[in-house]
Amino acid sequence: MTEPAPQRLTVPQFMAMKKAGRKITMLTAYDYTMARLLDETGVEAILVGDSMSMVVQGHSTTLPVTLDEMIYHAEMVGRAVTRALTIVDMPFPSNHLGRYKAVENAGRILKETRCQAVKLEGGADQAEVIGALTSAGIPVVAHCGLRPQNVHLLGGYKVQRDHDRLLREAREAEQAGAFCVLLECIPAEFARELTATLSVPTIGIGAGDGCDGQVLVTNDMLGLTSGYVPRFVKPYADLKTTIKQAAEAFRDDVRSGKFPGPDQQFK
Ligand code: KIV
Repeated sequence: MTEPAPQRLTVPQFMAMKKAGRKITMLTAYDYTMARLLDETGVEAILVGDSMSMVVQGHSTTLPVTLDEMIYHAEMVGRAVTRALTIVDMPFPSNHLGRYKAVENAGRILKETRCQAVKLEGGADQAEVIGALTSAGIPVVAHCGLRPQNVHLLGGYKVQRDHDRLLREAREAEQAGAFCVLLECIPAEFARELTATLSVPTIGIGAGDGCDGQVLVTNDMLGLTSGYVPRFVKPYADLKTTIKQAAEAFRDDVRSGKFPGPDQQFK
């Protein structure tokens, strides 16, 4: 007996939310425990982001994470999620090696992780790849605006203000078959205009309140990130402090002989 088919949000249902005027929520997850907790909240989409390179692996950019590592983590997330649409980032440079290789790489993601869609950085320049993936039955989210995988070309993580280029990027991504466009770090008015122009949903991060939905990196949202946190993040918890306080209390209890107490011991 195989496991029951998941009742997850489908790509068409996700897209229909735009027409229905319902705001879409997306959060990142990189492991089973977090994915399961987030899924239980009813967020519509869970993204296994290549931000994993920074927040899980401790690198300073998203460039080092490999396809195998993304698949390893996405498989844990895919096993946990029963409701949300699950999307996996194509890590650098897995979508830049020609469209056949891109289909092979994205195909591995879908085959090996039970996730439903991929996200790739690019718009107009990735139109051919988006088209090839879509023809192969692989749903694609295009990531426009600030593209963190281009950090060296851009010279840092900066707000992207080239209005015409942005419009072209997002429109061509949609025309090529992308079912959603993620907009990162662009002026709110650009994002509002794009959202009105496109028929597919836009999901913003640092792109203002005019998008069809919003995404945050979960570690940032939970107040777990040490060091620099971008201005567009709103921390909804201070888990860094909570975790440290719990670990300090454990340390003190062990040192003073309070743990384990009678309740934590076997007779
Ligand atoms: O990798 C990631 O977490 C992202 C963010 C923009 C959500 O792509």
